[in-house]
Amino acid sequence: MPGVGAAKSSVILEGMDLGFHGDLEVGSGLVDLAVNVRRAPMPPWLAEPIAASLADLAAYPDPAPATAAVAARHARPAGEVLLTAGAAQGFVLLAQALRGARRAVVVHPQFTEPEAALRQAGHEVTRVVLPEASGFALDPALVPDDADLVFVGNPTNPTSVLHPAEAVAALARPGRVLVVDEAFADTTGEVESLAERRDLPGLVVVRSLTKTWGLAGLRIGYLLGPADLLARLAAVQPLWAVATPALAAAAACASPVAVAAEREIAAALAADRDHLVAALRDVPGVRVEGRPASSFVLVRISGGGRVRQALRDLGYAVRRGDTFPGLGADWLRIAVRDTAVTDGFVSALRKTMEA
Ligand SMILES: Cc1ncc(COP(=O)(O)O)c(C=O)c1O
Repeated sequence: MPGVGAAKSSVILEGMDLGFHGDLEVGSGLVDLAVNVRRAPMPPWLAEPIAASLADLAAYPDPAPATAAVAARHARPAGEVLLTAGAAQGFVLLAQALRGARRAVVVHPQFTEPEAALRQAGHEVTRVVLPEASGFALDPALVPDDADLVFVGNPTNPTSVLHPAEAVAALARPGRVLVVDEAFADTTGEVESLAERRDLPGLVVVRSLTKTWGLAGLRIGYLLGPADLLARLAAVQPLWAVATPALAAAAACASPVAVAAEREIAAALAADRDHLVAALRDVPGVRVEGRPASSFVLVRISGGGRVRQALRDLGYAVRRGDTFPGLGADWLRIAVRDTAVTDGFVSALRKTMEA
């Protein structure tokens, strides 16, 4: 039966459900600060091609035009782009195609699907957990030298930490596939993105179009990387994996108009995030980690589990932190919303903290 808890079969490790995601926090009537998908009306340059594509549904999808558009956006040849049914599919293709990897490493805390996909494909996974004391900053020296498949997020979900591009690039080397999950790179204005770096050996950049463009239900993302490696990933991708409306969205989101709109959205987001962070820092007992850089903010609250439940009782869903390796129940992730929603949320939070 569909509903809460009915996600795909999960990888549960030491009681931690790696298949738990923010959508499972959201229930009827709750204000959603758990899912990091932007809610805004779709601009006409996006809505129109998606709607027009419905006239072509009798034909099998042709990814070539959208692939060319994405390649042009990132100044790469088309062979260095693989469109996927969301970034999530990219992790599965990597895990399946690279079964021969000897040592897969996942840098945590981060989105749990890469580790789940690796384990589902039979990999043993070495976790590198970035310490809270360093603000969850990436120290490339923590990644073992013999790791030949490495996953890191930038900016990182759930910490909202943006690692310097040089620190991430320092992980690339011959004989290693370095996967950088840039699902939220557009929320930062792309400042530390490696999407256009073609000189780093084995670099695969994972991108999502579901967050900023509110297309989580359409399933569209892509991989950027060396053509020979992407060909191996394409070989394990199901036939016609990306539907025609999703291809129309990918082409539209690669246009200069879309890229300019992304920058404006990132600037507005930064103002909304500053508002949220300032308000949170004003609530006694709430600690905001570091300098959040993306569309969500990680907080530490003693008794976070109780606070999360009390917030639900007051009508607000936030993302629990205890399903992220390296965090725990005292951590909560809060999506950046407009100032009115933020103000309502923070006053509910104050109430729960005073209770
Ligand atoms: C960091 C990160 N990467 C990838 C994804 C998956 O995105 P998509 O909807 O494109 O599969 C998510 C979704 O929450 C995410 O948070």
